[in-house]
Amino acid sequence: MTETEKTLVSTENFEATEAQLEAVRLAARTAAQAENALERYASIVLTDDETIHRLNCDYRGVDRPTDVLSFPADEGDELLAPPDGFLGDIMISVPRAEAQGKELGHSTERELAFLTVHGMLHLLGYDHIDPEDEKEMLSHQRAIMSLEPLAALGGEKTNETEANTESSESVKAMKEINGFEIKKMIGLAQEARERAYVPYSKFRVGACLKAASGAYYLGCNIENASYSPTVCAERTAVFKAIYEGEREFEALAVCSDSKNCTSPCGVCRQVLSEFCSPDMPVILVSSTGEYRLISLGELLPLAFTKGDME
Ligand code: THU
Repeated sequence: MTETEKTLVSTENFEATEAQLEAVRLAARTAAQAENALERYASIVLTDDETIHRLNCDYRGVDRPTDVLSFPADEGDELLAPPDGFLGDIMISVPRAEAQGKELGHSTERELAFLTVHGMLHLLGYDHIDPEDEKEMLSHQRAIMSLEPLAALGGEKTNETEANTESSESVKAMKEINGFEIKKMIGLAQEARERAYVPYSKFRVGACLKAASGAYYLGCNIENASYSPTVCAERTAVFKAIYEGEREFEALAVCSDSKNCTSPCGVCRQVLSEFCSPDMPVILVSSTGEYRLISLGELLPLAFTKGDME
């Protein structure tokens, strides 16, 4: 028995299946092992949406349910020293994991493993507030999910893209983007939408373009009384990034107030194709936050690019 089996996985207000509990145990152990922290352990509680919603409110002041919360032991009451090796607590909502798994086309167990690894990395000191830190955390997260036994859960596909996409070749060839990154970019595109200047159409659009440097460039649509000079949110984001010296991009998210997933117009697709590769993932977001993933190559097949002028 390894030391990490001290990690206690329990349930609160929720009856988890043995397979779910086992996926969480395996993920906690694999994360600890990969991070050379086998002597450390955590307490992981699987619960329902209501319980995690309450905790999210109490501890983070966020009035909605979430998928995973981590409480590092060293951030607690300093008078109550944590026991030796104790990393802290992780709370996971199984119904959320189930819904996310469905959305992404993989099992609840695989999503639970992903959330457990995420929580364990937080307890081990990783964070994703700063883009550089985030890059590091994501690369560890990806590496751990590709290790056995997690790979057997579908862990090697940190590419959560497959589920949401159609099965065309260009989409299959899409660059990897994980669920965590997708959520972050959707949030940023929604923030960008707030800045839309749309006195004529009243149709707000927000875009978030992630550069290979790790920086995010946000754009909104900016309209004009003479209509045709109007610039779309996507092009605002691209041009800001190009001006800043960026030349390589990893992903784009676009949202509007439409209940349909917002798709870039033809002109923006052409502009994007100048700078972004056909395998770049594009996240098309609806007003309720649902999204669809598609590659730029699928949005604009046979794009006319500099290669065509040779
Ligand atoms: N719009 C965008 O910002 N992006 C798109 O890809 C589609 C259209 C904007 C332009 C205009 O301000 C409004 O939506 C209505 O066309």
